Amino acid sequence: MTQRSENAPEAAVIAEAAEATEVVAAAVPGEAAAPDTFVDFRDAAFTYDGERFVFRDLNLTVPQGQFLCLLGGNGSGKSTLAKHINALLVPDEGAVEVFGCDTRDAESTYFIRSNAGLVFQNPDDQIVASLIENDVAFGPENLGVPNPELRERVTRALAEVGLQGFEKHETNALSGGQKQRVAIAGVLAMDPAILILDEATAMLDPRGRAGLLRVVRELHAAGMTVVMITHYMEEAAQAERVVVLDGGRVVLDGAPEDVLVRADELRALSLEVPFACRLSLALRAAGVPVAPCIADDDLKEELCALRSSR
Ligand SMILES: Nc1ncnc2c1ncn2[C@@H]1O[C@H](COP(=O)(O)OP(=O)(O)OP(=O)(O)O)[C@@H](O)[C@H]1O
Ligand SMILES: [Mg+2]
Repeated sequence: MTQRSENAPEAAVIAEAAEATEVVAAAVPGEAAAPDTFVDFRDAAFTYDGERFVFRDLNLTVPQGQFLCLLGGNGSGKSTLAKHINALLVPDEGAVEVFGCDTRDAESTYFIRSNAGLVFQNPDDQIVASLIENDVAFGPENLGVPNPELRERVTRALAEVGLQGFEKHETNALSGGQKQRVAIAGVLAMDPAILILDEATAMLDPRGRAGLLRVVRELHAAGMTVVMITHYMEEAAQAERVVVLDGGRVVLDGAPEDVLVRADELRALSLEVPFACRLSLALRAAGVPVAPCIADDDLKEELCALRSSR
């Protein structure tokens, strides 16, 4: 937990990130969402141009500690939704509450932004300094976190993304996957209560993607609330909950093993089905008695069990 500093009031705001549950309980007396609700879209509507709504009557909650994956075709509203979580955008109708604070309340903007960390697709757009330690320190430094706490946060955040000891390395010498980890470290150094990844693995090769996903899973295992937008079904298979958007509406919402096997509906939404799922469904159609699987390892186990039972 972050130390409070008498001399840096802004650092105290960041310190409150780690105590967000208490904040949620206290922020909106009476009408507050359940204490463990971090994100709450209530009949929310948003339009960029005042004419066409990206979403309307959107209702979606994300409880503390959940690893949620957001899927949907191009233009379905995923990035717009993500930007509402850290108050970069605010609804035109209805309400969005984050940590129990209304995102339209200007007094809450700073608190929400410093506690809801957003990582975008292109790592090059997010690197701001040539030395890794300066890059990771950029966010918390701007929030007023003093030394030596600042350095401690940088060291801890780099360790969390598997880049311990990289403080003095040059950012331009990193691979795309490493740059994206540095971008995540920069967000983690701000001590966020929720991590939002908007296609953060899209520009990485399979190895970089797998490494980044491992980092996200480890952060989640340590208690981080994660909202991950991706087009990769194999990544969605590793989340706790999958929400599918179409035209700004939630069309599917459930556990990956329930959502990702709905092959026909997903294809109709221009979404792929995980390889293991495609194969297990094709095997079932051919009369092979295997359960629909979303993970390669599960299908492997099914096939091994089938073989040994014969
Ligand atoms: N800055 C903007 N100004 C006007 N319209 C926008 C803006 N950003 C997005 N839109 C529109 O809002 C809708 C939703 O876009 P959004 O970027 O949220 O979709 P997305 O699901 O993230 O798509 P993708 O998979 O391509 O990233 C689209 O019709 C898009 O054209
Ligand atoms: Mg997008």
